[in-house]
Amino acid sequence: MKVAVLGAAGGIGQALALLLKLQCPAGTELSLYDIAPVTPGVAKDISHIPTAVKAEGFAGEDPTPALVGADLVLISAGVARKPGMDRSDLFNINAGIIRNLIEKVAATCPKACVGIITNPVNTTVAIAAEVLKKAGVYDKNKLFGVTTLDVIRSETFVSELKGISLDKINVPVIGGHSGVTILPLLSQVEGASFSDEEIASLTKRIQNAGTEVVEAKAGGGSATLSMAQAAARFGVSVLKGLSGESAVEYAYVEGDGKYARFFAEPVRLGKNGVEEILPIGPLSTFEEKAIADMLPTLKADIELGEQFVNS
Ligand SMILES: NC(=O)c1ccc[n+]([C@@H]2O[C@H](COP(=O)([O-])OP(=O)(O)OC[C@H]3O[C@@H](n4cnc5c(N)ncnc54)[C@H](O)[C@@H]3O)[C@@H](O)[C@H]2O)c1
Repeated sequence: MKVAVLGAAGGIGQALALLLKLQCPAGTELSLYDIAPVTPGVAKDISHIPTAVKAEGFAGEDPTPALVGADLVLISAGVARKPGMDRSDLFNINAGIIRNLIEKVAATCPKACVGIITNPVNTTVAIAAEVLKKAGVYDKNKLFGVTTLDVIRSETFVSELKGISLDKINVPVIGGHSGVTILPLLSQVEGASFSDEEIASLTKRIQNAGTEVVEAKAGGGSATLSMAQAAARFGVSVLKGLSGESAVEYAYVEGDGKYARFFAEPVRLGKNGVEEILPIGPLSTFEEKAIADMLPTLKADIELGEQFVNS
């Protein structure tokens, strides 16, 4: 299997490259690309780690050489938040970056699974879908917004609050990847019960967790290390699926459109990317209302991406 990381010299990209070098199955090839000239050096650096995963680095304006033969493309290219910004402030720069990179994916590795990390994910995934559609190669089962960070944060926070062992914890997170569109389904956490106040405050903390990091980094960027671990977990699961094992992750995908064209929900991964969208399960009244409340925002975010490509 070949995994291309676009944006590989960045805060997320370098850490993700390292974690993939450590976590991917033996025989995986990593193809690291960034416009930054340091990128071949990042590949050289991790190539000295003794694991059976190869790494090659590419820099410059054209990602094509890095994309040849890719089975999975993970994209974190773009700008990150500074204090006072929310994810939608990144749209003006990142929309164009995603459009250009996805045009190259469509031309070079149209059958690859693509995981988008670049924010605003609610919108950049819609951009990617429309670009792939225009090129005649869109397969909705192979395009993902990576929302795994919301899941791992939720697992950490719930474990801290309730003293549940981390290896036993599972917190579904559905919706989108910004503010009120992030919805942890605390009613479904096994072995824990929450008061109404805990549900309200924990939901808010999970929704604002990215901002916690942005503020703590004081102008130095947004989450990179936890994001890299989230993307590595997601990427390894996609590779598992592609190689015939089954894996389940929550991801922002085009499903049946019950709530919105794209929605983060549980997916069973397999040889063709998404093999099956799994049911999100029973919802509490709080969660039903939270979904209804998020939909105008989520739908507007999606439309923004569609219009960016089509108008
Ligand atoms: N999905 C999530 O949960 C999540 C979490 C955190 C951050 N993010 C997003 O991930 C993105 C990257 O964050 P970061 O902290 O790594 O930023 P960063 O600034 O450290 O790195 C971004 C990298 O992208 C590169 N780049 C810019 N334009 C490019 C292009 N056209 N082609 C290839 N590479 C290009 C830059 O050279 C840089 O190395 C941001 O948009 C951020 O908001 C997403």
